[in-house]
Amino acid sequence: AVIIEKEVVIIGSGYGGSVAALRLCEKGIPVTLLEMGLDWEKSGEKFSPMISPGHSAAWLKTRTIAPFLNLFPLKKFTGALDRLDFEHIKIWLGRGVGGGSLVNGGMAVTPKKEYFQEIFPSLDAEKFYAHYFPLANQELGANTASEDFLKSCDFYKFNKVGEQEAEKAGFKTVRVPNVYDFKYMEQEYRNEVPRSALAGEVIYGNNHGKLSLDKTYLKKAGATGKLEILELHRVNSVAQNPDKSYTLDISIINTAGEEVEHKLIRTKKLVLSAGTMGSLELLLKSNALTQFPLDKHIGQQWGNNGNFMTGRNFVNTFSGGTGAQQSTIPVGGIDHWHDKKHPFFVEIAPLPMGMDVATSLYLMVNKLKKYGDVSYNAQTSKLRLNWNESHTAHMKDNAKYFLRTMNKANGGTRSHLLFHNGFGADICYHPLGGIVLGKATDQFGRLNGHQNLYVVDGSLIPGTIGVNPFVTITAIAEYCMEHVIKEDFS
Ligand code: FDA
Repeated sequence: AVIIEKEVVIIGSGYGGSVAALRLCEKGIPVTLLEMGLDWEKSGEKFSPMISPGHSAAWLKTRTIAPFLNLFPLKKFTGALDRLDFEHIKIWLGRGVGGGSLVNGGMAVTPKKEYFQEIFPSLDAEKFYAHYFPLANQELGANTASEDFLKSCDFYKFNKVGEQEAEKAGFKTVRVPNVYDFKYMEQEYRNEVPRSALAGEVIYGNNHGKLSLDKTYLKKAGATGKLEILELHRVNSVAQNPDKSYTLDISIINTAGEEVEHKLIRTKKLVLSAGTMGSLELLLKSNALTQFPLDKHIGQQWGNNGNFMTGRNFVNTFSGGTGAQQSTIPVGGIDHWHDKKHPFFVEIAPLPMGMDVATSLYLMVNKLKKYGDVSYNAQTSKLRLNWNESHTAHMKDNAKYFLRTMNKANGGTRSHLLFHNGFGADICYHPLGGIVLGKATDQFGRLNGHQNLYVVDGSLIPGTIGVNPFVTITAIAEYCMEHVIKEDFS
């Protein structure tokens, strides 16, 4: 195949890739962004609501893959939500221009400073909290719902009940910013604009209202005229050339996932932003296929960010349940991080089933007690994840303690119908680590043993950050790009 030459290539258009694209383009550097999923806006395809998913709902699957309501047959299509299935854990991901921002709940949480310092002792926390976190939140469009709206909007009954019950049980609740535009949501509520969060759209994508990366970082990058986005470009492997440039082996796929063209791109500089699992797979697989130089830290310090799903039934049954219609956008959390014995953060999650199921859903974020690790099985051509119930046992203890305390104060029972008897230990929305900053890379994401390869995504965070992670991924990407652009790209 003909080799196409590029100056700078970014693989993946999630948080890391989008920050890299904007900061490079702003400096006048031409950037090619390769994304295996669709450019949704260009495609004209619509995202699906949760209760009536169409072909756009899942990445090349023949049935839907939500953690519940998993009933619908699908036509194979390069849809928005993907799931990687390992023996003891399932990992959900976003596919398309915007990566995880297309399908996530939009919770924009800045981690606790002390925990950030504990996880990244060598980073300048003062600078992060004075500069990189505020910058990330501003560029991402994080905003907070008005208390009046939340009080009056019946779509937030699940959250009102969730907070009241938590407080009655002695837990501290917190309001959480989001990148869903709450002004838009208020207009939805008044029926002035098409509904999205109030029409059950989220994990298969939002057609309106959400400030996903294509509406923020990537839009700004595009306006510079320096950004080329190539959709449906799946990078299969990377080879390092003798002159320390890289050649990428690429399949251009159609919307059924079949290769329609094979392409080679050579680039002087490569930014790897394929997300924790995508970047790990590319490095480990490239090593197996092309003797790509690998550092011994690659694959180490992987974690699920302490994700543990749980739920309660018969919530508020006598005074009216949790609401038949629910906004898909979470706004509330429970901060129980200070407890030495049972430290956790909880997202009070919506459960938009289209009827009142009097059930509360919680996504817990726990600490890690031990890391998992990731390797590559060349025989099966698949990632191997060393992660099992021994990694999540203490998270289950925390869930038991949380449910017990909630039920004692409020009534209700563990939701045996959700997950495995009410415990979703194998549900992961926040895979982190494996190419850890300062271990597998230098302090700015330059991969060890390489001169022109920068890792900028969730894989830099060692397995845990204590809250939903995209604000941290964005802030770290800002920090890394600021430094490497100054030193390596001028
Ligand atoms: P990200 O995964 O976003 O992007 C990687 C991109 O690379 C993808 O677009 C992928 O298709 C592409 N790619 C991968 N391999 C490739 C290859 N070989 N070739 C070409 N392209 C390739 N977080 C949070 O803070 N608040 C929240 O409310 C939520 N909620 C939530 C809900 C759900 C359902 C999910 C699945 C996730 C969340 N998250 C979240 C997590 C958050 O979305 C996640 O941490 C970030 O998207 C990770 O950002 P990255 O930049 O690391 O990669």
